[in-house]
Amino acid sequence: MKRIKAIYPGSFDPPTNGHLDLIERGSKIFDELVVAILRNPEKDPLFSVADRRKMLEAMTEGFDNVSVDTFEGLTVDYALRIDAKAILRGIRAISDYEYELQMALMNRKLQPGMETVFMMPAEKYSYLSSRLVREVAQLGGSIECLVPELVEQKLREKMDVALKFANGDRPAAKTPSDGKSKSRKKKA
Ligand code: PNS
Repeated sequence: MKRIKAIYPGSFDPPTNGHLDLIERGSKIFDELVVAILRNPEKDPLFSVADRRKMLEAMTEGFDNVSVDTFEGLTVDYALRIDAKAILRGIRAISDYEYELQMALMNRKLQPGMETVFMMPAEKYSYLSSRLVREVAQLGGSIECLVPELVEQKLREKMDVALKFANGDRPAAKTPSDGKSKSRKKKA
C-alpha cells in the first residue's frame, strides 16, 4: 500500500498553537508527518534548535504518525532525502499567499515531483505568528492561549533570564522606594 510522508518545515521560534493546529490537521491526511525545523546559521533565533525540538516533541507526543527533525539547506533536498512526497504549509490569510505561492513554485522548480499542500489553521489562530508571540512576550503581554503551556513556561523563563541580565548592569542598589521592584517581571 502506498504511504504518503510529508514534511512540515518551518522556523518554529517558538512553536505556537497555530502550528499545533496545522500539525493535527496534517496528521489526519498524511500517513506520516515530519515537523522539520530549519537550522539556519544566519538567523539569530530566540530559542536554540535543541529547545525548539524539545518543545515540538512534547507538543506532538500524542500523535503516533508525527515526528520532529531538523535540517539544513534546501527544504526540497531534505524532503527528497527522507523520501517525503509533499511539503505542508499553513496559510492564515491572503497576506501569506504571495510568499507561500512564491516558495511553492520555487520548490517545484527545484524539485518538480515535490508537491506543496496548503492548509488553513482554525480562524482563531489566523492572526497568530511566532514573531508576534515573541514580541508580546518580550514586552510583558499575555500569550496565554496562543502557545501551549510548556512554551509559555519556556518563554517566561527566557524573559526572566533577560531581565536578570539587564538588571545585572545596575547592581541591587537600594532606592528610596525600597522593596518595590521597578522591574517588569510578571507575577508567576
Ligand atoms: O516558519 P518559516 O520561517 O515561515 O519557514 C520558512 C522555511 C523554513 C519553510 C523556508 O525559509 C525554507 O524552506 N528554508 C529552507 C531553504 C530553502 O529551501 N529555500 C528555498 C525555499 S523556496
